Amino acid sequence: MEENIGRTVCDSTTKQFHTVMYENINGINRLFGGVLLSWIDEIAAITARRHCGRDATTVAVDNLQFKSGAYLNDLVVLIGKVTYVGNTSLEVRVDSYVEKRDGSRHPINRAYFVMVCMGDDDRPMKVPPLILENEAERIEWENGKKRKELRMLRKKEGY
Ligand SMILES: CC(C)(COP(=O)(O)OP(=O)(O)OC[C@H]1O[C@@H](n2cnc3c(N)ncnc32)[C@H](O)[C@@H]1OP(=O)(O)O)[C@@H](O)C(=O)NCCC(=O)NCCS
Repeated sequence: MEENIGRTVCDSTTKQFHTVMYENINGINRLFGGVLLSWIDEIAAITARRHCGRDATTVAVDNLQFKSGAYLNDLVVLIGKVTYVGNTSLEVRVDSYVEKRDGSRHPINRAYFVMVCMGDDDRPMKVPPLILENEAERIEWENGKKRKELRMLRKKEGY
């Protein structure tokens, strides 16, 4: 894959499925949050890698909400999408759902991960541009830009 060629959101959108097993359950019979977080972190890294054509590492996680529980034998669907790209970082939104046998889905989590594109020298490198194809992607980009400004302010002011 050629570096620094723009890619669409669809180019890197990634979907993963997991069945909730006994070893994923916590003391109150729900999917353990730490397991879901590791699944989300993995799909965020895969989505970022597919956009960048290189490995990416997680630098920040915010705006993460657990909306509903998941239970033994549930089918969990995760969808990762690039929402915003900066210079060397990109934001990936991961939506997690439980899918019922009739194919309907209800949301259990939404998270925004900031990933950094890593060069061969193990230093941040430029992220390829994101090509926005519709209004929903343009709105998500504007929101991503605002979240980035807030993160930078928090980093600078240390709160
Ligand atoms: C990722 C890492 C190499 C970045 O190094 P750095 O010296 O902070 O690099 P920079 O200051 O140039 O920042 C790189 C990008 O990350 C962004 N960034 C850095 N800290 C951030 C934070 N706290 N929140 C959001 N974005 C952040 C910067 O804005 C920049 O993005 P931009 O180029 O698009 O503007 C370094 O922080 C690191 O190795 N962190 C650990 C990553 C890791 O191991 N993750 C796995 C968790 S176990």
